[in-house]
Amino acid sequence: MSDVQSAAGLLPTLPNLSATFDRVVYPARQRGLALSLGVGGRVVSTLLAPTAPLPSSGSVRELRRRFDALLEQDLANVEAGHYPRELLYQMPILPYLVRLPEALTDIPRFLWRSYRGNYADVPGRGGGDRYPDYYLRTFHWQTDGWLSSRSARLYDPGVELLFGGTADVMRRMAIPPVTAMAARAGRPLRILDIGCGTGRFLSQLGRALPDAQLYGLDLSKHYLGEARRHFAAAQDVSFVVENAESLPFAAGYFDVVTSVFMFHELPKPVRRRVVREARRVLAPGGRLVICDSAQLSDSAVVEDVLLAFPKSYHEPFYRGYLSDDLAQIMRDCGLHVLDSRPHLVSKVVVGEKRRAGRTRRAVQ
Ligand SMILES: C[S@@+](CC[C@H](N)C(=O)[O-])C[C@H]1O[C@@H](n2cnc3c(N)ncnc32)[C@H](O)[C@@H]1O
Repeated sequence: MSDVQSAAGLLPTLPNLSATFDRVVYPARQRGLALSLGVGGRVVSTLLAPTAPLPSSGSVRELRRRFDALLEQDLANVEAGHYPRELLYQMPILPYLVRLPEALTDIPRFLWRSYRGNYADVPGRGGGDRYPDYYLRTFHWQTDGWLSSRSARLYDPGVELLFGGTADVMRRMAIPPVTAMAARAGRPLRILDIGCGTGRFLSQLGRALPDAQLYGLDLSKHYLGEARRHFAAAQDVSFVVENAESLPFAAGYFDVVTSVFMFHELPKPVRRRVVREARRVLAPGGRLVICDSAQLSDSAVVEDVLLAFPKSYHEPFYRGYLSDDLAQIMRDCGLHVLDSRPHLVSKVVVGEKRRAGRTRRAVQ
C-alpha cells in the first residue's frame, strides 16, 4: 500500500475531510503521474515513429482542458456515490514498477518488430479456427499479441504509460451508467464485460457494486489468467474464454453488458456482430455501456492526436474506427442511445435495449 493510500485510508469516516483531502491530493498525484509517465510514453512513441509531427498547440490546449475535466468528473462521481473513493488511489504503482525490468528488456524486440512491420509474429497461429484472423496480430507491436502470460503481465503498466496514468480513470467513466441502473433496480445486477482483458474495469466495477454477479469474457486465456489474480475470493465473478462475436449465454441473461477499449481493435463488420450479440444477451431494459477511444464525431478538435496513434502502434482497424460512430452502430443494431460523451481521449456510449412500449428516459 502506498503512503497516499494509507493516508487516504485514515479518512473514510470523515466525509468532509476526506473530500477535501481528495480534492488536493488526488489531482496532484495524477498530475505527477501524467508528467512522469507522459515523458516515458513520448519517448516510446518517438522511437516507434521518429518522423511523426508533435500535436498541434490547439490539441495540447484541448487535451489539458479535458484532463482537468476528467479528474473533476472522477471526484464528482465519488462525491455522488457512484464508486468508493479508494478507487481514486487504486492504481498499483509498485507492482507496475516491479515489472519495469521485464518491460525494458522487451523493448529491443518490440522496436525491431515495429521497424520490420512484422505484425504476424504471434504464438497462437496453428490454433485451428479458435482465433479469427483479425485477432492474430501483435496489436501495439506488443510481444506475443494477446497470446502469452508475459504479454498479459506487461499490458496494464504499458497502457498506463501510454495514457499518462489516466487509463483506469477513463475506464471508471463507464461505471456511473451501471451504478445508476443498479440503484433503480434495487437488486444485484448480472453484468458481463466483453473483451475484459486483465480485468482492470471489472475489478473497479466490483468495488462499486460488491453484490453484483460479474462475468468477464475474453478470447485470451492468458489475459483472463491475469484477471483472476485481481479479484478477492469473496467477489462473485466468473471468467469465460470465448469470442465476443458468439456469446455463450442465453438471450436476456444480463442486466448490463460493458466493454472497454476493445471496439477500436475490431474490423467494421465485427463491431456490429458484437453489438448485436450484446443486445441479444441483454434483458429488456438492459444497458450496453461501451468505453473506447474518442472518435471524430466527438473529438475532431484533437484529430491530429487520434490520427497519430496508429502511426506509432500497430492498430490496423483504428482509422476506420475513428469515423464509425459507436452511437450509430448501437442504433443500427436496434439499441436506443441514452448518452455519448468524450472523456480525454476516450468516450463512453450508453445504449438501452428497449422494453416494448417504453418511452425516452435520461441516462442517470
Ligand atoms: C485493448 S484490450 C482491452 C482490455 C480491457 N478491456 C482493458 O480495459 O484494458 C482488447 C481486449 O479485447 C480482447 N478481444 C479482442 N477481440 C476479441 C473477441 N473477438 N472476442 C473476445 N475478446 C476479444 C483481447 O483479447 C484483449 O484482451
